[in-house]
Amino acid sequence: MADVASLGLYGLGTMGSALALNILDNGFALHVANRTPEVTERFRAEAGPLGAGLRVHDSLEAMAREMPAPRAIILMVPAGAPVDDAIERLCDALEAGDTIIDAGNTDFHDTRRRTAMVEARGLTFIGMGVSGGEEGARYGPSIMVGGTPAAYGKIKPVITAIAAKFEGEACADHLGPDGAGHFVKTVHNGIEYADMQMLAEAYGLMRYGGGMTPAEIGARFEAWDQGALKSYLVEISGKVLQAVDRETGHPAVDVILDSAGQKGTGRWTVIEALKMGQSASAIEAAVGARGWSSEKEARVAGEEILGTRRGAVEIAAETYEQALLAARIIAYAQGFRILGAASEEYDWALDFARIAEIWRAGCIIRSALLDDISEAFRGEMPQGALIFAPAFAARLRESLPALRAVVAAAVQAGHPVPAFSAALAWIDTMAQARGTTDLIQAQRDFFGRHGFVRLGGDAGSHGPWWE
Ligand code: 6PG
Repeated sequence: MADVASLGLYGLGTMGSALALNILDNGFALHVANRTPEVTERFRAEAGPLGAGLRVHDSLEAMAREMPAPRAIILMVPAGAPVDDAIERLCDALEAGDTIIDAGNTDFHDTRRRTAMVEARGLTFIGMGVSGGEEGARYGPSIMVGGTPAAYGKIKPVITAIAAKFEGEACADHLGPDGAGHFVKTVHNGIEYADMQMLAEAYGLMRYGGGMTPAEIGARFEAWDQGALKSYLVEISGKVLQAVDRETGHPAVDVILDSAGQKGTGRWTVIEALKMGQSASAIEAAVGARGWSSEKEARVAGEEILGTRRGAVEIAAETYEQALLAARIIAYAQGFRILGAASEEYDWALDFARIAEIWRAGCIIRSALLDDISEAFRGEMPQGALIFAPAFAARLRESLPALRAVVAAAVQAGHPVPAFSAALAWIDTMAQARGTTDLIQAQRDFFGRHGFVRLGGDAGSHGPWWE
């Protein structure tokens, strides 16, 4: 263990203190500090009997000074300026061989920039994606590490110990250099956005088109969680839909404003996808839907002005289940396409099977599908596309009619299903050998002499409109 670093953690907010307790619970010594020392003291009390290996410090600098070398300090502060500020202070306080770890939801471009800056100053930097919310942080998150293998080596024992376990195997790994860990976490969140949106679309259809109560829909989610849709998000959706508000006695969801927040990771996924010439349409739709949801006043006015009323839909429970399965496969597939594009663009050599494996437990998108996805990436995969892997192509062939039926019924009756429709449009596009962009190319050539590839002929050809 000579090379293993002494461990410090800065930032004892909800996630920071949960992760700190997890580290202590696994028998590791830990130094902690917080911007406000009162919080550190409160944490000491909270740690109770777990506090045997705990050392608290008044400031980040004091902690860095008093930790034995080599040191590894985990930053659990909000993404953005607070991370830059902590790094700046640590660069002055640490020495060669020490490591700074940013464990927040950071934009991977910032991680790349910080890695270069920190390493130029003789220190090591790790960008670490951590998923699983508060409970995950406390009892076992999924951990996506970006940095050098040597840097990971210094913290690997603690990271694998605190991570979630899938059949005894740690859901944590070193995935690539600099921004790779944060990028994988960002795409994880993009998939999370799409999956959440699709579940919400199914809920909306069952409720406002099928006349079911939240509790009835919740019970359906609970049943689906025993089958092919088994996943954390289906499980918690079942629970929240069956929960009752103590104050009013109404379903808990009915006292919640239908306007969703977002901190950026979903949007970044879409932005990066577009920058690399990809379109993660289901994720895009989910990000967009959150944006529309925040226009509450406009929607209230719109209901009056446009006068569109949502009609009834009759869709069987099994059809919803199959539609959700198809849509989920598509969302994962789009996420992995973005990972593939980024891996090429940044030369990360990402191991997709491994990524699916470390998402099997601890993280928010954990689901029964991920084990099959990791297997698919280790097997035959035409065009390197998950949707063409034999097991997934077969599942899609079986479940797509249900997705089509749900989208058709929803559209006909005036229910918005942006993620379902976007997912279906992508898969329908991918199932056509000849599409319709011949006309787009002709239009481009007509108005701008852009040229096109003539079938069986040359690139840079022009149409008769130029003769
Ligand atoms: C996780 C979550 C977590 C958080 C995201 C999403 O993997 O544990 O993704 O990181 O919930 O930040 O947040 P927003 O929905 O607010 O963008």
